[in-house]
Amino acid sequence: MQSTAEWWRHAVVYQVYVRSFADGNGDGVGDLAGVRARLGHLRDLGVDAMWFNPWYASPLADGGYDVADYRAIEPSFGTLAEAEALIAEALEGGIRTIIDIVPNHVSDRHPWFVEALEGGPGSPMRDRFWFRPGRGPGGELPPNDWQSHFGESAWTRTQQPDGTPGDWYLHLFAPAQPDLNWEHPAVRQEHEEVLRFWFDRGAAGFRIDSAALAIKDPGLPDVETLGDRPHPYADRDEIHDLYRSWRRIADGYDPPRVLVGEVWLEDVERFGHYLRSDELHGAFNFDFLAAPWTAAALRRSIRSTLAHHSAVGAPASWVLANHDVTRVVTRYGRSDSSFSFAAKRHGTPTDLELGTRRARAAILLAAALPGTLYVYQGDELGLPEVEDLGPEHRHDPMHFQSGGVDPGRDGCRVPLPWSGTSPPYGFGPAGSAPWLPQPPDWADRTAEAQTGDRSSMLTLYRDVIALRRNLRHETADLVWLDGDDDVIAFRRGAVACVVNFADTAAPLPAGAVVLASGPLVDGGLPTDTAAWIQLTDPPTSYDPTETRGTS
Ligand code: GLC
Repeated sequence: MQSTAEWWRHAVVYQVYVRSFADGNGDGVGDLAGVRARLGHLRDLGVDAMWFNPWYASPLADGGYDVADYRAIEPSFGTLAEAEALIAEALEGGIRTIIDIVPNHVSDRHPWFVEALEGGPGSPMRDRFWFRPGRGPGGELPPNDWQSHFGESAWTRTQQPDGTPGDWYLHLFAPAQPDLNWEHPAVRQEHEEVLRFWFDRGAAGFRIDSAALAIKDPGLPDVETLGDRPHPYADRDEIHDLYRSWRRIADGYDPPRVLVGEVWLEDVERFGHYLRSDELHGAFNFDFLAAPWTAAALRRSIRSTLAHHSAVGAPASWVLANHDVTRVVTRYGRSDSSFSFAAKRHGTPTDLELGTRRARAAILLAAALPGTLYVYQGDELGLPEVEDLGPEHRHDPMHFQSGGVDPGRDGCRVPLPWSGTSPPYGFGPAGSAPWLPQPPDWADRTAEAQTGDRSSMLTLYRDVIALRRNLRHETADLVWLDGDDDVIAFRRGAVACVVNFADTAAPLPAGAVVLASGPLVDGGLPTDTAAWIQLTDPPTSYDPTETRGTS
């Protein structure tokens, strides 16, 4: 754990998808008891913080992003007392806890929405959401043309008590996730109280879900005919006041708490606005995550990331994966290794050996860059996407709302293998059945099998994270080193990182190789391999002929 108040600028944050991390009670569902029992794994990995996907009481229609009660833990995950104990125990071992907040929507079982439905048209409880009559003579058409991010209309029609159709309500995601109306003072107040509720219980910060979507144009205009007018719900200017008010709350704590936004925006300048010094501390770098495994794409992403973060004095973040995207080793093994929600390429051929080699190099690259590093659970085990889940094992609303076209995100959420040679691989007690089935060939991917194996992904992750701290280059600027177009090479202080994307081996700068993602060949760096070099002859002063990281 870093002791400085600005620990979040260089932290390694491990993402815990509780449902799939470890099952303490044998019901097939991961839980807080499981996390507490496995904290040693995170300590051995050397992470500074954990980020938990929503752990609140929820019908789990969208894996917990449908929150029914922010002040209670989802019963299948545990209790509030366990959450408090977990936060305290983790901190004793040097690991801070960041949790999720979902301002855009709640569950349709949240008491507010239940009361809104029961109250009927005109009920003041409906003002906390977006209820509107439909268009067309009988109100049979949705109030506007907005589409849900999961597919289909963003509106669902309610039923009156007598069974006849009533008003519609807005949900940018699943129908089980009604959007909140941030014009309503109770919505603001409630979220401020939720922040304080968890900060008071020791949470070090919040990850803000769909952070750019919460504020709507109350006129709810169609998107199709917008012209030059601002988008009615994405990235509205008013959202910044909301995060400024949250920042004041976070800053009111000792130590100050942190706010990290899930901001999917292509406009990097507008993305930077969220990171101004009185707004969020950080945001996920999806540009880097989505880039294909090529030197040109990754170099461009790194340059642009550093430039727009330094413009606002915020740390960059480096993210290879999360619970919404295709697993890294699968993605990087495909001929098109980029990621986009629009084209998931599920089931397209992948070469897992190639993907694994690249994923090994990628963690050396990401961990060498200045800023925060996020690790999604299971990536340290080199888990692939599980692409052959049967229809009965599909849970993701993204899959269902696409009419089954989109594979959904279940394949990156399969429970972790810890030990043993067959399911449940120590995820839960022997004989328990994990909520998503694990593949039969994961015996050599368990944490146990990989521990002590010098060539395993887990050993590499442990080495990377330990060295990242020991090299103490965290505060050094990035300086690009000259090289082939197909080689990414830069140094931070006296440590260089070189990644070879070329077909032939690349030379290394003079120095000691402190870490490599794969074997070197005659002193050269093979294709899809990365190395960290302690430079023999590091420049001692700023060399104006070198390209600065922020250029
Ligand atoms: C975010 C979450 C995703 C969820 C969505 C709706 O994108 O990461 O898992 O489905 O928001 O809350």
